[in-house]
Amino acid sequence: MKKSNAINASFQPDSFEFTDPKAVKEIIGRYPQGREHSAIMPLLDLAQRQIAVTGPYGDLPIGGGWITRAAMDKIAEICGVAKIKIYEVATFYSMYNLEPVGKYLIQLCTTTPCWLCNANDIVKACTDHLGIKIGQTTKDGYFTLMEVECLGACTNAPMIQMNDLYYEDLTGEKMIEILESLKKDIIPPHGPQNGRRGSMAITGPTSLQEQAKKAGVL
Ligand code: FES
Repeated sequence: MKKSNAINASFQPDSFEFTDPKAVKEIIGRYPQGREHSAIMPLLDLAQRQIAVTGPYGDLPIGGGWITRAAMDKIAEICGVAKIKIYEVATFYSMYNLEPVGKYLIQLCTTTPCWLCNANDIVKACTDHLGIKIGQTTKDGYFTLMEVECLGACTNAPMIQMNDLYYEDLTGEKMIEILESLKKDIIPPHGPQNGRRGSMAITGPTSLQEQAKKAGVL
C-alpha cells in the first residue's frame, strides 16, 4: 500500500500508552543496554496489535491494527531516539499500517512468481467481489486490500496474506469462498488451498521419501 501522509491526518489521536508494560519491558530486555533502538520493530508491532484490539479506527466501525503517530512518538521516547528514526522504520516496511485498516487486511502478492501463476485473477476476484480498489477499505470496515511484494511463499503461488495467515495455491473461486467466509467472521483453514501438504508436490513427496515415511507424510 502506498504510504500516505496519515502521520499528520486529523484522525490521529493525541496520546498513546502501551497497555502491557510487561511486554514492553520484555522486548527491551532482549537487547544489550545502550542498544534499545534494536527494539523499535517489535515495539511497532506491539503497538499495532494493541490498537487492533483497543481502537481507535478513524471512521471505521471495526478495524485491524495500525500505528498512530502518538504510538511512534512513545516508542521514540522509550528507545531514547529521535522521533524521525521511528517514522523512517514505520514508513519503510509494508507490514506497518500507518492508517486504519479493515478487520481483515488482505495483502495481495503480485510479484513475478505469483503474477506468472495468475495473481491478477486473485486481485480481480477481490476487487470485483468487494467492490473496492487496492488501497481501499470496504464501508463496513471489514476488508482492506493492499498490494505487496513477494511474501516468501512463491512455491505455493499465487498467494495472499490475511492478517497473520497465509492462503496459498489460490484460484479466483477459492479467493471468493475465503472472502465469503470472512464476511461471516469464520476464519477458513489457511495454507495451501489445493490439497497439497506444505510446499511438497500435490502428488506427495518426490524426493527424500525415506525421511517422509519417517515423518509419517507418505
Ligand atoms: S512472488 Fe508471491 S510469494 Fe513470492
